[in-house]
Amino acid sequence: MANSPTFTIDGLKANVEGKEILKGLSLEIKGGEVHAIMGPNGTGKSTLASALMGHPKYEVTEGSVALDGEDVLEMGVDERARAGLFLAMQYPSEITGVTNADFLRSAINARRGEGNEISLIKFIRQMEAKMKQLEMNPEFMHRYLNEGFSGGEKKRNEILQMLLLEPKIVILDEIDSGLDIDALRIVAEGVNAMRNEERGFLIITHYQRLLNYINPDFVHVMMQGRIVKSGGPELAERLEAEGYDWIKEELGIVDETVGQDEEEFKIPMNTTAPKY
Ligand SMILES: Nc1ncnc2c1ncn2[C@@H]1O[C@H](COP(=O)(O)OP(=O)(O)O)[C@@H](O)[C@H]1O
Ligand SMILES: [Mg+2]
Repeated sequence: MANSPTFTIDGLKANVEGKEILKGLSLEIKGGEVHAIMGPNGTGKSTLASALMGHPKYEVTEGSVALDGEDVLEMGVDERARAGLFLAMQYPSEITGVTNADFLRSAINARRGEGNEISLIKFIRQMEAKMKQLEMNPEFMHRYLNEGFSGGEKKRNEILQMLLLEPKIVILDEIDSGLDIDALRIVAEGVNAMRNEERGFLIITHYQRLLNYINPDFVHVMMQGRIVKSGGPELAERLEAEGYDWIKEELGIVDETVGQDEEEFKIPMNTTAPKY
């Protein structure tokens, strides 16, 4: 299909503050596909999301990222957004002085490009419709971006952005954290409504719960800054039932995290516990 995107990550390595966190990660996402990345905390999942979006703190040292053959790593953050990449952050930022409506309209116009800006009337209509779909209070339109929003309200607001921006590749980083079951259902319905051949999804999650609502086509497990196992939805079910230990055992992984300074946390063997 002509408008079906292909997003290719190949051998991606990235450093944060001089430490290598991503250690060679490859993944291809096509339009119509939902890929889930699961993994314990501290395994590099958010680092992957930030590196893909071009966060300046995350320095890509090796590998390539391409959207429909275009080199994503060459693009600035705004260019990535314009090209159709979207990230719903695990911890969305609060911006005082910028209302949600102002922010969304600027974001939509940045995505649409100069000369193709959305009219104010059309924007308001779309925003109202999407907020209704997400069961958001209309007053959130005029509140400063994420300021004083609860965890769940921030997550809904991220999904509102996704609905309005109509991205080609959607990355959701722990969109389920902080959501009660009703909010989770609403967010999942928002995502499912956007599923089509023109859009691919990368859903990062710690828990299988979200995947009961958004059925993934592929499930990948991340440990030590790389994908260590891939499968179908049955992999997520096994993780729900058995946790992550069996994968660690299978692969001989002792510590699944990445970027920790082991030396700092080690208790020296030749000292005795202090007496009080
Ligand atoms: N902004 C940051 N500053 C410093 N270290 C970071 C930063 N982001 C990630 N890291 C390092 O990368 C490791 C992986 O973190 P992260 O990608 O957030 O994992 P996950 O999302 O899987 O919990 C952390 O243990 C930390 O050492
Ligand atoms: Mg994370």
